[in-house]
Amino acid sequence: MLSEKVFIPTGYTHTADKGSFEWSAPSNIALVKYWGKKENQIPANPSVSFTLNNCKTITKLAFEKKDNSQNFSFDLFFEGQPKESFRPKIEKFLERIVIYLPFLKEYHFTIDTQNTFPHSSGIASSASGMAALAMNFMSLERLLNPEMTDDYFYKKASFLARLGSGSACRSVKGNIVVWGEHNDFSESSNLYGITFPYMIHENFTNYQDTILLVDKGEKQVSSTVGHDLMHGHPFAQQRFAQAHDNLSKIKEALINGDTTTFIAVVESEALTLHAMMMTSMPYFILMKPNTLEIINKIWTYRAATGIPVCFTLDAGANVHVLYPENAKDKVLEFIKNELVAFCQNSQYICDIIGTGATKY
Ligand code: PMV
Repeated sequence: MLSEKVFIPTGYTHTADKGSFEWSAPSNIALVKYWGKKENQIPANPSVSFTLNNCKTITKLAFEKKDNSQNFSFDLFFEGQPKESFRPKIEKFLERIVIYLPFLKEYHFTIDTQNTFPHSSGIASSASGMAALAMNFMSLERLLNPEMTDDYFYKKASFLARLGSGSACRSVKGNIVVWGEHNDFSESSNLYGITFPYMIHENFTNYQDTILLVDKGEKQVSSTVGHDLMHGHPFAQQRFAQAHDNLSKIKEALINGDTTTFIAVVESEALTLHAMMMTSMPYFILMKPNTLEIINKIWTYRAATGIPVCFTLDAGANVHVLYPENAKDKVLEFIKNELVAFCQNSQYICDIIGTGATKY
């Protein structure tokens, strides 16, 4: 098991004065959910996610050596416009990672970022955003240490992304990523995500995720507050044990192509996540009436057609509709005919399981 210490560099062999990189990193959707954490972004339970393909953040990082290395120095742009409201989050991220990237105070950075999905669509951009930034910082570190292996590069990128936003560590690689120590995955770690290490059944190749935008408003509960509510939660220990069990079950389902078990685990995980919020103190309901309408329509459609379509939810009202590639035409027709009516402004986004961060 690696410890944090392997990510503290002992020195660099090269220097770099000025330059830029550009990376994109996708969003991801958890199948077994991470909800609850310990200090330093250590998850209370292991999770697994599909990496997405189309919903991503594209970040350009320009760097230039500066004279004084007392403080962090950076400019922020979002979709071409200065974005001061992102500053505290980035500042906090830099504070957390500077011990692992000691050069951070030696440069002035210009961080230029954009999302491929609509702003305030209820799709969290923290996972893709933090992952894209981490990739750029790792490109800079690799310039200073060209001997670095690919394995180290990606592990450390995931490690750094985790310190920005826990689930961001699952946005570095594809197609399925496991984060958090689990007995069935000998390489799994609380510190970074690993690619699902077994052969995935073809039933899950090119799996589809259509995101129905039910409520595009700001998140009612930040994930920081949400995770905190698991401290002292009456059902926390059972929940964490259940996540371990569910990860074992879904692992087998992904290997065997067992869509029935897959559906049972994925839908139960989504509802459990929301059940945890409904039973915390204070309590929250993050689903909207239309979320429930959609879930019921999916259940009716699945029972009538036998098509293995299911739903999952994030910490919000939007619904991710998951289905195999060979059911794409039929399910899209069903979505258009029966589900779009429950979306805000009829909006939905078609995505597909993807391969992770990409350098431009
Ligand atoms: O990465 P965070 O701290 O924003 O937490 C995300 C938690 C969920 O999206 C609700 C579940 C998950 O595993 O992604």
